[in-house]
Amino acid sequence: MLKKCLVLVLGLCLFVGVSSICFASKHKHSPKPGILLVAFGTSYPDGKRAYSFFEKEVKKAFPGIEVRWAYTSSIIRHKLAKEGKNIPSPVKALAQMMSDGFTHVAVQSLHTIPGEEYEYLEQVVEGFSVMPKGFTKIVLGTPLLYSVHDIPKVADALLKNLPSLKKGWGIALMGHGTGHRANSYYAALQYALWLKNKKVFLGTVEGWPTIREVRQELKQHKIKDVYLMPFMSVAGDHAHNDLAGDESDSWKGILSKAGFKCHPILKGTGEMKEIVEIWIEHLKHAYAKLGLK
Ligand code: CO
Repeated sequence: MLKKCLVLVLGLCLFVGVSSICFASKHKHSPKPGILLVAFGTSYPDGKRAYSFFEKEVKKAFPGIEVRWAYTSSIIRHKLAKEGKNIPSPVKALAQMMSDGFTHVAVQSLHTIPGEEYEYLEQVVEGFSVMPKGFTKIVLGTPLLYSVHDIPKVADALLKNLPSLKKGWGIALMGHGTGHRANSYYAALQYALWLKNKKVFLGTVEGWPTIREVRQELKQHKIKDVYLMPFMSVAGDHAHNDLAGDESDSWKGILSKAGFKCHPILKGTGEMKEIVEIWIEHLKHAYAKLGLK
């Protein structure tokens, strides 16, 4: 996979016809640092709101440093391209940054867990870091949930952003979930949440636990009214359809059928200041490894 990535990266350099980019940057007198934010991507206006907020907070933490974006989802990139909005892939964005003379680049993952998307990003960054005469230094900031310390921190930050609960009320959070082993972070986070609030339930769309476990817990806790919220950086397709959609197989559909009254709040974690602060902490940690000043 790493080899494949290297071939891809080197191939791209040749393809763009910018052989000069591979040889220009290392001998510049002053370093040119940059930040690349990498998200899955979204085509929803609600999602864009989260990314804009995130970018604003990053720029506040790193004044004067250029911030660029890349999306890992090719489906989203193609959809946006049809609307005339061109967001590059991570490989393309980094090749362009090389071409533009950046010497030190901090790549920050906007992913929630270190799953497949993050591992791909690790390989891309690794590919660029071994490229002869490429960037002087390139580093990668970890996703929201990565070290053991992130788990209670994220739980606390999340709880600050949840509505307060009257008797008989609860919250169902929808994480993305994955078949990757990193899915276990959701169960760890659920434990950390329960230490502080027993009425907050975290399930996933594509992993485990599912809505079935969440429904069972809601019943056991005698909850009647449920706030439905995404536990994803953006309130995009999953939030609008799988969580709060009117179909019978959405969380709203399933829970309504089971007698719960549902109250969706479509706000991504990328819009929550305390959560974004944790991502930015990870970026600061990575940025420090660039060894500038
Ligand atoms: Co998905």
